[in-house]
Amino acid sequence: MSCVVSVVNGFGLSSSSSSSSFSTTTTTSIRRKRIQVQKRTLLTSLTNNDEDNVFSITALSAGNNDGGDNNDNTGTTPATPTIPPATTVLVVGGSGRVGGSTVRWLQELAGRTENNKLNIKIKVGGRTKKSFEQAKKRGVLPLEMNAEDDFIQLDWAEWNEEQIETAILSSSDSNNNIGLVVHTAGPFQGRTDPTLLRCCIKHNIHYVDVCDEYELAVTSKELFHDDAKQLGITAVVSSGIWPGVSALMAANAVEKLEEQDENKNNENSNKADTIDFSFFTAGTGNAGPTIVSATFLLLATPVLAYRNSKKVELEPWTEKRMINFGKSIQEKSVWLLDNPDVPTTAVSLGSGSSGIPNVSSRFGTDPLPWNYLFGAMKAIPRSILYNREIMQNFALFSEPIIRVVDQMVGSTNAMRVDVSNKDNTKTITSLIVHNDLEMAVGLATAAFAIEVLKSNNKNGDNDDDDEQQEQQQTIPSGVWYPAELPKQARLNILEVVKEGTITYEV
Ligand SMILES: NC(=O)c1ccc[n+]([C@@H]2O[C@H](COP(=O)([O-])OP(=O)(O)OC[C@H]3O[C@@H](n4cnc5c(N)ncnc54)[C@H](OP(=O)(O)O)[C@@H]3O)[C@@H](O)[C@H]2O)c1
Repeated sequence: MSCVVSVVNGFGLSSSSSSSSFSTTTTTSIRRKRIQVQKRTLLTSLTNNDEDNVFSITALSAGNNDGGDNNDNTGTTPATPTIPPATTVLVVGGSGRVGGSTVRWLQELAGRTENNKLNIKIKVGGRTKKSFEQAKKRGVLPLEMNAEDDFIQLDWAEWNEEQIETAILSSSDSNNNIGLVVHTAGPFQGRTDPTLLRCCIKHNIHYVDVCDEYELAVTSKELFHDDAKQLGITAVVSSGIWPGVSALMAANAVEKLEEQDENKNNENSNKADTIDFSFFTAGTGNAGPTIVSATFLLLATPVLAYRNSKKVELEPWTEKRMINFGKSIQEKSVWLLDNPDVPTTAVSLGSGSSGIPNVSSRFGTDPLPWNYLFGAMKAIPRSILYNREIMQNFALFSEPIIRVVDQMVGSTNAMRVDVSNKDNTKTITSLIVHNDLEMAVGLATAAFAIEVLKSNNKNGDNDDDDEQQEQQQTIPSGVWYPAELPKQARLNILEVVKEGTITYEV
């Protein structure tokens, strides 16, 4: 890990490069105790008091930050309950295409009536202020954001934990407490440490990422699921449009197939046996160079698939199929490509104890020669394909060509999920098409984030809010893959993602 923080981060940190050790339990329990004491004080003052405080309770539950006029006309000293701060949502990678779109959708969704208790302040995390400013110029980030208040400098891949924690915590101020980190700063391929999630667990912050690297998602879950559960932290890994919403489509289709009640006498007939994921994105879907370099990295990654309940590794960009993506797109060729939805759905879905026996995922793009280029790139030695720097530079070098091609082919994103029973007599097909991948991935990531926020939204420290929070809690504490989310959370997220679709058959 590099140690240039005192030069670049402006927080006056020491330049020690050693990884800080920490005791999650100790720090968090101190923090929790402090919260409990604060909560007790607040409740005492509320129950001891008069009409003025009733007004304050109303202000609290309305999520109103101005606190109202707390005049004391009783002769006693009025308790002045602290107005709970708004929640800061830090979108790391927010200057990028996926992150920027997430920022815009978070802003949009949080302001809607159905989410009217979400009082959020969005900030962007990234390595350089320059890309933040460029993102504003390109319309990736809202113009009204300003670097002074809304940008947090951090490098999750190079800085040590202490430096990253200091940066994340600096996004809290007197009015806003950091409550959620959304991690979109890929590529995730080849990364092995869930650094940002670790910091979130340590500081009681909810977490969502768009990680498309299965091993990293597994590590996140293995290391932190129990801690998150115990500490009341909600984290969803591998969210986004795909992986992410695609896993929700699979969950829905499996449920639909298994709920069909014909042939009840044959208990195997409705059991889900096969999930086929197929994806098509025209060009890069108007997305960033990182998506291109992530695809290059994926071409060097053996494809994880399930065959007869056995995990197998297959050669990427093989086993071509022709898939119909509906009226607007029609038939496209797709090839095997690694996708964390495969193992997560294979293991989590289905009524059988052994999950879904056969699962695989394929991808194709336009223009057609792009697909052959991908096929040819496999011949490049893995050491080069897996060299993040070379591939990112290559993607940046190719960006002008990519942009021209994107303009020619459009940026449609289509996802089709087919779930079949064992004898292939029944298939449930789910299809979602948006005309822009960048829009769709931001909308989807924001939908997951909003669901986590709603699940943990607490605009006031009173019993009504406790009750309301319980009702809203569609995602329990823990680290979850999208495939594992409870039905209500799944339906809520799918409902949000319906927006702007050309085709929506779920
Ligand atoms: N799950 C899904 O549905 C889905 C779909 C599409 C893409 N993705 C993934 O999303 C990721 C982002 O794609 P993109 O197209 O948005 O890429 P992008 O436009 O290149 O943006 C990446 C952003 O991350 C920031 N960043 C990179 N490394 C960082 C680091 N070490 N620390 C802090 N910030 C860092 C960069 O800002 P600075 O230069 O300022 O640091 C940049 O703004 C990719 O990994 C891709 O695979 C997921």
